[in-house]
Amino acid sequence: MESVRLEKEQFETAGKDELLFINSFFILFRTAHYVEASNATYQTQSSRFYVNFRRLVDEHGRISIKVIEGRIFVRDKMVKFDSDGMVRAREIIDTWRHLGIGGIILDDSLDNRRIDKFVYLIAKLERSKLGMEDVSERLKDLGIDGIALLATEEKKEQVVLTEENRTFMRRAARVTFFRAISVVQDAMFRTANDKDIDISKARRVVHSLIDRIAQDEFSLIELTNIRDFDEYTYAHSANVCVYALTMGIRLGLDRQQLSQLGFAALFHDIGKVKLPEDLIRKPDVFDENDWIQMQKHPLLGAKTILRNIRFDQHAARAALVAFEHHINNDYTGYPVLNRKRPTILFSRIVAIADTFDALSSGRVYLKKSIPPDEVLRKMMYQMTVKFDDFLLKLFVSIIGVYPAGTLVLLSTEQLAVVSRNSSSNLSRPVVKLIGDKSGPYEEFVEMDLSQPEHSGKKVVKIIDPAGYNIDIKSIILSDK
Ligand SMILES: [Fe+2]
Ligand SMILES: [Fe+2]
Repeated sequence: MESVRLEKEQFETAGKDELLFINSFFILFRTAHYVEASNATYQTQSSRFYVNFRRLVDEHGRISIKVIEGRIFVRDKMVKFDSDGMVRAREIIDTWRHLGIGGIILDDSLDNRRIDKFVYLIAKLERSKLGMEDVSERLKDLGIDGIALLATEEKKEQVVLTEENRTFMRRAARVTFFRAISVVQDAMFRTANDKDIDISKARRVVHSLIDRIAQDEFSLIELTNIRDFDEYTYAHSANVCVYALTMGIRLGLDRQQLSQLGFAALFHDIGKVKLPEDLIRKPDVFDENDWIQMQKHPLLGAKTILRNIRFDQHAARAALVAFEHHINNDYTGYPVLNRKRPTILFSRIVAIADTFDALSSGRVYLKKSIPPDEVLRKMMYQMTVKFDDFLLKLFVSIIGVYPAGTLVLLSTEQLAVVSRNSSSNLSRPVVKLIGDKSGPYEEFVEMDLSQPEHSGKKVVKIIDPAGYNIDIKSIILSDK
């Protein structure tokens, strides 16, 4: 079976025709997701795609679309999407990968009707357990010739981290994480006194965070679980930045986009410095008046960024994210817009990261912390209309059922801290055993619950460290 690979050693970047073609192709898939083939919207998109397809195929003969290392190639030319295009592309890539499809080749004999059949076949099979060969069979059965499927690229050897490597990465992650907190603290302190913010430090720390997360996302996600900071707002900003960047990296955003996203996430709540300190630190549930005050922080944040940060792309995006991060997908949030318009991708990412962190820390709105698994369930089932559904699914796949850094009780009656998720089974993470009924262990041993030899053991529930008198912070910060 032929798998995806580039014909040329050196690849070019896709031109305007390829871009029009692939964008209209992905929009077609997305539309098929929501409506029937007879629907007028679908029909319009289908004709639009066919025009773009014909233009390209008449000139070049058959057209290949390939997914290689998360990037998309049309006719072996790499496509550079804008950030929204990237999200749409990611959605399709995920579906294809699930079905074992790494690419397709479209022949010039293809007509509209067969393309539509293909699109709906994939939409229908999306959640099935079929592999690429089965999909190929279906194509034949349905008489859809002119489309050949390519298998996904051969898996590269997974880099296995040695114990030493991991210790090093966790240490490096800690240094970067605490630097991020101090950058936010410094920036908030300066803006509170209406002084300008030096953004070079913020940019540097965002770049280090991107590098650390790209190497080992779990060593940073683990740190977001240190919940007992005195100054919650600063740690919250660093946490939101870590979650947002992890999502951005999984989405395949480029370095420049990641840098802007991280920067915006770090300063999303900067408007809070303009609110009375008693309100931010208020230990009780907010009353109506407190809420009116609190709802001013997005606008205050945008204004602060525009006033105290030198204006450039980074500042512009950050101001928009500060303004939009509580608006919600269904516009139930704040500020209320006079004219409803979709929020930008970065705001939709930050909204998810922000809600997760705020609810699981219990420090901002509810004043009561909720275990992370419950927060995710709440977001998935009760709050789902508030978020971008694809991004929410992506977030859940990163955080897992038991996020890195949470304390859990195992069926063996041992206590353990989650080190990282296993991609094959989100409810069976890798854990570090820290103790049992007779007390804490001297050495913490890691155990991968997704491995067959541990199939008899499982996580029973998430435990609140305070209830067991366990200092989770020192465990997370230790090299053990
Ligand atoms: Fe906020
Ligand atoms: Fe926030």
